[in-house]
Amino acid sequence: MRFFAHAFAAIAAVVPFLSTSMAQSGTPVAYTDPDTDITFDTWTVSETLSKGGFTFGIALPSDALTTDATEFIGYLLCSSQNATATGWCGVSLGGTMTNSLLLLAYPYKGNILTSFRYTTGYHMPDVYTGNSKLSQISSTINATHYSLIFRCSNCLQWSQGSANGNASTSAGLVNLGWAQSFPGPENPSSPSNITLHYHDNGHNIWAATLKNAPNKSYTDWATMTKTTATGSSSTKISTTTIPASSTPLPAKARTTQK
Ligand code: HEM
Ligand SMILES: *[C@@H]1O[C@H](CO)[C@@H](O)[C@H](O)[C@H]1NC(C)=O
Ligand SMILES: *[C@@H]1O[C@H](CO)[C@@H](O)[C@H](O)[C@H]1NC(C)=O
Ligand SMILES: *[C@@H]1O[C@H](CO)[C@@H](O)[C@H](O)[C@H]1NC(C)=O
Ligand SMILES: *[C@@H]1O[C@H](CO)[C@@H](O)[C@H](O)[C@H]1NC(C)=O
Ligand SMILES: *[C@@H]1O[C@H](CO)[C@@H](O)[C@H](O)[C@H]1NC(C)=O
Repeated sequence: MRFFAHAFAAIAAVVPFLSTSMAQSGTPVAYTDPDTDITFDTWTVSETLSKGGFTFGIALPSDALTTDATEFIGYLLCSSQNATATGWCGVSLGGTMTNSLLLLAYPYKGNILTSFRYTTGYHMPDVYTGNSKLSQISSTINATHYSLIFRCSNCLQWSQGSANGNASTSAGLVNLGWAQSFPGPENPSSPSNITLHYHDNGHNIWAATLKNAPNKSYTDWATMTKTTATGSSSTKISTTTIPASSTPLPAKARTTQK
């Protein structure tokens, strides 16, 4: 991975290699979350590549395969090792860890906290200074897994300093990356000021084909949000926040809150 990720400037050049030789499929599997009724394209990393497994999903505005979307609704399902090593997980929205918008999430005191990051090197990423915004829709935490459904606004085009990049949904194929760690962040109460341990539970890039992600219900789903976080903060904006460890509200109860 190191060789291929570093040796080619253009990720496009490695896509054929990745899709044939990596034990990870770019073909999406449709998943409908039972509590929100949101349908995602999902990609799952097996237990053999990441202990406990890892799944990332994307739902997109209905015209995303013809017009580049700037936002998506995401689904993360990540693994914890035990009650102390509850971990963190993340995605790269450009595939590589470097020069891409990174989003990481971790469980902390019954909530999922998130942070947008960016780095030009393979070390602890900086806080992302662009205008991405994450709004939580629902989350779950148990002894072995945590999940988050969220709206990610201004997340498919990014800029940090003079550098910029994007994930083009109209191409029908986006390069994504995942990383997962068992040790959780240090200083976890402050997402903008965490320090991370290396992702000891795996990482990889995959070329994700978009198929079921665009949906005409996207605009309805995008209003089901409860909390908002930017690159440098994580702020509760609503008293109706669903505790991450509780059973989410049934979809019917939720939609009446719009
Ligand atoms: C202390 C923090 C971190 C360190 C020291 C670190 C270090 C590294 C290193 C050395 C590699 C290359 C490994 C190889 O080629 O075999 C790598 C790859 C990767 N990392 Fe990180 N990382 C950190 C945090 C993150 C975060 C927060 C994310 C995402 C949210 C992330 C996502 C990735 C991805 C997707 C890859 C594979 C793609 C690539 O090689 O560019 N990393 N990381
Ligand atoms: C759109 O979402 C609904 C509700 O999740 C789902 O039943 C439907 O199959 C989705 N449409 C497409 C084209 O995937
Ligand atoms: C949790 O797992 C870590 C290894 O990641 C280990 O060092 C620690 O002792 C374990 N803690 C418990 C309570 O099992
Ligand atoms: C924990 O959550 C995961 C993912 O939702 C689920 O597969 C697993 O069955 C849950 N474990 C328990 C003990 O409820
Ligand atoms: C997306 O990035 C490509 C190069 O990777 C660039 O040609 C294109 O103009 C960018 N699109 C946007 C909307 O920034
Ligand atoms: C950030 O965390 C470090 C320890 O990791 C601590 O010394 C510092 O005071 C923290 N700063 C803020 C603003 O929380």
